[in-house]
Amino acid sequence: MMKAIVYTTNTGNTERYAKMLGQRIGLPVYALEDAKKFLEKGTGIIYLGWIMASGIKGYKDAEKHFCIRMVCAVGMGATGTQLQEVRNKNQIPLSTEVFTLQGGFDMEKLRGVNKLMMSMMMKTAGKALVEKADRTPEEDDMLDLMMHGGSRVSMENLSEPIKWYEQLQTCITKERREK
Ligand SMILES: Cc1cc2nc3c(=O)[nH]c(=O)nc-3n(C[C@H](O)[C@H](O)[C@H](O)COP(=O)(O)O)c2cc1C
Repeated sequence: MMKAIVYTTNTGNTERYAKMLGQRIGLPVYALEDAKKFLEKGTGIIYLGWIMASGIKGYKDAEKHFCIRMVCAVGMGATGTQLQEVRNKNQIPLSTEVFTLQGGFDMEKLRGVNKLMMSMMMKTAGKALVEKADRTPEEDDMLDLMMHGGSRVSMENLSEPIKWYEQLQTCITKERREK
């Protein structure tokens, strides 16, 4: 059973997704630091964290405290991409469902190391994308996000995680009925 949604955000996109999801499926939403204070150890949760160099911020910490049933990793890439890479890099067990969501990007909101890392990424990954001749529509969109900033947070991007959650709920209700 999942009792809460827990998130880690830097510039707000992940927080927006967490709150939209919470409202839609009717679960309380906590920032990770608050969740550690207010939720019991081992509580079943949905975790949302932003992607930094394929790592999910706060995931390891959240995993120590809670039972993570589903993860939404929020990055710059298109929704539904980078799934295997994210699962491998963060060593997410097969029993935990993983989704990726396209968040946003705003250089103005970045500070310190994050800003430095991102300007380096713009020079390497960004430059490679600019020079790539056969960019897919998703890559075009990511490039646009990198160059001009913006947010792609939308309810539509949450449709897969919502479907997964609702299917699980119907299974649980059916199980209860059959008991
Ligand atoms: C230092 C740094 C590294 C990042 N690395 C990745 C990455 O590997 N893959 C990706 O899709 N997005 C990457 N991003 C983009 C963020 O995940 C994206 O901006 C996300 O929406 C941030 O979420 P937030 O607004 O909740 O902080 C990176 C951003 C920063 C600042």
